[in-house]
Amino acid sequence: MQFPSHGANYEQLYKNFNLEMPKTVYDLSENVNFLGFPKQIEMLWQDLLAKITSYPNALAEPLRTMIATKHNVTPECILVGNGGAELLTFYAQVYKGKKVILIHPTFSEYKMTLEAAGAEIVNITVGDFVNYHLPLEEVKLHMKAADCLYLCNPNNPTGALIQRETIIELIKHGEKVGCSLLIDEAFMDWTDEEHSAIDLVSTHKNVTVVRSMTKMYGIAGIRLGYLIGQPHLVSTIRNRLPHWNVNNLAISIGMECLKDEEFRLRSIQENLSKKNGIQNFLKSHHCTVTNSAANFLCFQLQHPEETENFYFHCLKQGIVLRHTQNYEGMNGKWLRIGIKNDVAMDKFTEVLAGWHE
Ligand SMILES: Cc1ncc(COP(=O)(O)O)c(C=O)c1O
Repeated sequence: MQFPSHGANYEQLYKNFNLEMPKTVYDLSENVNFLGFPKQIEMLWQDLLAKITSYPNALAEPLRTMIATKHNVTPECILVGNGGAELLTFYAQVYKGKKVILIHPTFSEYKMTLEAAGAEIVNITVGDFVNYHLPLEEVKLHMKAADCLYLCNPNNPTGALIQRETIIELIKHGEKVGCSLLIDEAFMDWTDEEHSAIDLVSTHKNVTVVRSMTKMYGIAGIRLGYLIGQPHLVSTIRNRLPHWNVNNLAISIGMECLKDEEFRLRSIQENLSKKNGIQNFLKSHHCTVTNSAANFLCFQLQHPEETENFYFHCLKQGIVLRHTQNYEGMNGKWLRIGIKNDVAMDKFTEVLAGWHE
């Protein structure tokens, strides 16, 4: 059976599994903001048409400077990308022939991009998926022989937050043993930012942070992300990227998104109340639920051996969940659910409650 490597694009999923697609489908397999995008983008649309014919600024200015100001770093530390995925792909190439540590279960693109780049991967799996507590001594031991440690914070697929103290401890250890850290904060903007490592980039040369703007701002189709790192690393990766890697629409839309802090705060608030509701519901149905700081979470049924049947049962009811077949350690025995609007959440709770009857 061919499980897709990512969420979203559910039409293809029904096709792959040769399943009839219900008239209404609720896609809970991806993690894009259910509120959509900031409304000013709609107003801007007519002006954006005028930008279609011209080449964009190769450094994605003036968005790059705006991002630098937001994070209180110099523009030379910022590299804007066609989604965080592009930056992860090109960052991985720095580790060709080198050793990189991954801590599973985590975002499957790390393994794919590092393997494609010819890096050697050291795999560590956490024992506790609910809190994603890192086995610190084991990680530190491997760091002595590794060139880089990847961390996903909050972690995809669990949503668990790695505490800032832990990050600092690992950064300092990395400095001693010559190991860099790539911290993927694709979902950090769903939190109060207390555990972000961005401010540590200017004081610790071994730290690089990658951010995505596609989830919080509902612009997965536009593609936008950025990397914050040492200027020499930024220019090394910049030189390998296509010259105009970020298009004019993405630059303008990205600026509107960053201006709208009210949208971000409202999104966090609405996400939180829906997430609490679904967490409580799942627990009341004897599921194990991860401690998520993001806009998705993972759960395990009371009888994990039923997971695959439940996944297909949901598909037939028009509910698309994210399988965990390619999240190492989870072996398909967990499911990830994105927090969406009330209609979608109600449909999911109805299907799960029915499963238990
Ligand atoms: C943890 C993580 N990092 C990075 C990305 C890449 O996001 P994008 O390329 O849409 O910015 C994703 C997408 O799902 C993700 O889950």
